[in-house]
Amino acid sequence: MIKPLRMFRFAFPRIAAAFFLAGSFSACESDEGPLVKDPGTPADSISFANDIQPLFNAYCTPCHGAANQKLNLLPCCSYEQLLLTGFRAPYVLPSNPEGSLLYQYLNGNPIQMPPSGPIPPHDIESVLLWIRQGAKNN
Ligand code: HEC
Repeated sequence: MIKPLRMFRFAFPRIAAAFFLAGSFSACESDEGPLVKDPGTPADSISFANDIQPLFNAYCTPCHGAANQKLNLLPCCSYEQLLLTGFRAPYVLPSNPEGSLLYQYLNGNPIQMPPSGPIPPHDIESVLLWIRQGAKNN
């Protein structure tokens, strides 16, 4: 039988290290990484500014810039456009994350965005989690 103290000395540093790592990497959640996201735990909360806007900058703003008549995804405007002022706003529905237009277009429905092909699944998952967590301007 394993003595409780030995078990504590074994488990505690590992649990503490896991929390420490989760905290220090949370700013890089849009990168490929070992973190598995599970909605509901604070360590996994997605930030619009740190996790979502960088995806727009990388994949969307060449077309969805100031000149785009429907949806401007530049940092100045993206949040307001998605929630309120875009052509078919709201594009994100916390009450129906999978049905949100933003999520649907990322998955090729009715057309693929970006047109060149889907962004990495990990990034689409971040968008879905961000919507599930309330689509906050955080
Ligand atoms: C190569 C240019 C291009 C890129 C890159 C691009 N889009 Fe688009 N997007 C378009 C065009 C053009 C339309 C309008 C298509 C139409 O309505 O027929 C559109 C339409 C959309 C719409 C629907 C807008 C509406 O109200 O009808 C959404 C949502 C969207 N794009 C999201 C994105 C996202 C998110 C990205 C980045 C992950 C992205 N797009 C990247 C060109 C692009």
